Amino acid sequence: MPTSIAIYPGTFDPVTNGHLDVIRRGAQLFGELVVACAVNISKQPLFSLNERISLLQAVTKGVKNVRVESFDGMVVDYVKKQGARVILRGIRTFSDFESEVQMALANRTFAPEVETVFVCASLEESFISSRLIREAAALDGDVGRFVPPQVLKALRVKREALQAQVSQHAKGRKS
Ligand code: COA
Repeated sequence: MPTSIAIYPGTFDPVTNGHLDVIRRGAQLFGELVVACAVNISKQPLFSLNERISLLQAVTKGVKNVRVESFDGMVVDYVKKQGARVILRGIRTFSDFESEVQMALANRTFAPEVETVFVCASLEESFISSRLIREAAALDGDVGRFVPPQVLKALRVKREALQAQVSQHAKGRKS
């Protein structure tokens, strides 16, 4: 039986206009879209899980049929638990395509009944990522075009932590 629930998983550290574009497109395609914020300890996110969820909730307030949740563990297990069969993903660039297909095929191996559906992310936001936003914000770059106002404000509050994170990465790259 087809279901009209789709899951859009990601780390959202933080949510950007690019993610929002995918969320809006997904909300038009499915009866319900669950934005699933990954705990993702491997990335050591700047924003805590609660902060990432609060920001997602704030910026999706006006988008009908969107629910924000968190998940830990395998995404396909979470999808099945939600009674869904679709994973929604956005493709920005050709390099995204390669890694997204790899992930979709791996997920299909784990759960053949779960399908991955791709939407093309908007051209204007195709080059941004959460990492780029964090790095530019740490260096006082104007990132207001790329994130919703609530996220811009949250980035300003995190300024010191951001700068520490960026200089740590820079040291890591040199060594
Ligand atoms: N606009 C702007 N930025 C975007 C974007 C868009 N449309 N789509 C992706 N990005 C950014 C992300 O913010 C992320 O930035 P970051 O690396 O600075 O955090 C980057 O591009 C990579 O995105 P993505 O590949 O979606 O990584 P993610 O960390 O957001 O999500 C999970 C990855 C959580 C979906 C994936 O790791 C997962 O499913 N984990 C659960 C464990 C599991 O099941 N593993 C097996 C999978 S085969």
